Amino acid sequence: MDDGLDPLARTALWTASMRAREHARSDRLFDEPLANLLATEDGPKIMRGFEGEVQRGVEDPALAVRTRFFDDAMIDAARSGVRQFVLVAAGMDTRGYRLAWPESTVLFELDRPALLELKASLLADAAATPACTIRPLGVDLLGDWTTPLAAAGFRHSEPTLWLVEGLFYFLSAHERDTLLKEITTLSATASRLLADYVTQTSLDGTGMQVWREKMAASGHPWKSGCDDPEGLLDAQGWRARVSAYGSPEADYGRWAHAVIEPGVTATRGRYLISAVLDGSAV
Ligand SMILES: C[S@@+](CC[C@H](N)C(=O)[O-])C[C@H]1O[C@@H](n2cnc3c(N)ncnc32)[C@H](O)[C@@H]1O
Repeated sequence: MDDGLDPLARTALWTASMRAREHARSDRLFDEPLANLLATEDGPKIMRGFEGEVQRGVEDPALAVRTRFFDDAMIDAARSGVRQFVLVAAGMDTRGYRLAWPESTVLFELDRPALLELKASLLADAAATPACTIRPLGVDLLGDWTTPLAAAGFRHSEPTLWLVEGLFYFLSAHERDTLLKEITTLSATASRLLADYVTQTSLDGTGMQVWREKMAASGHPWKSGCDDPEGLLDAQGWRARVSAYGSPEADYGRWAHAVIEPGVTATRGRYLISAVLDGSAV
């Protein structure tokens, strides 16, 4: 399909496809009725390609677990009074449609212009109804995205929840640090940050070699990880809690079966971050 998407943007079709598969399960961890549409016909092909060649047919539960984990954290933030949410690299995320948001919630979606245009046209065809105010912003996250965000009505004086899902490993450490600094500069005290990431040690290990080669050959290499996410965030004033996949709060009954072959689990050093800005280091 000629959808005008660059290779990295196309990974959003893959993750949408994984959410569509989760939605079809009777024991699903969340509902995402629009995911199948947004995955387009290419999403399942990309997903099966990776599972066939890299995971040997094993369904990776990470996407389902992280989606549910972040859903819960975002609703918790809304219950605590946060009304401003920014999906950094939103992809085909439909949380603005499928979660129950308090009135006056504003959700900014940042991603490549071509991806967001495709998403808008698919959602318009489906006559999808947003559950909050959604402001899509086509930007380059490695360029100036903060000016368009401010122009779109972002209020830096109020606490924000930032979701950085499925992005950090595609950035170099320098790009990640720059993005984190920009996020921190825009964050009022008590802002929250959610992200998923991977340890540098596992990324450099032999267990990840085939995965990295396949990701690079597909035009979207995994470039960085971090062995000390608490330290990384603490340096900028964020208090972070890090949950490895399969730990009690990031399991949902799925991880025990995620064995790719004897002795190799799907964990691969991946983890989920929930952080709060207390402002002490900024
Ligand atoms: C794996 S997808 C994740 C999408 C979504 N957060 C999810 O979990 O389904 C990675 C996303 O990052 C976006 N992205 C990567 N680099 C970007 C950049 N420099 N500017 C804007 N978007 C970028 C891609 O377009 C893509 O939608």
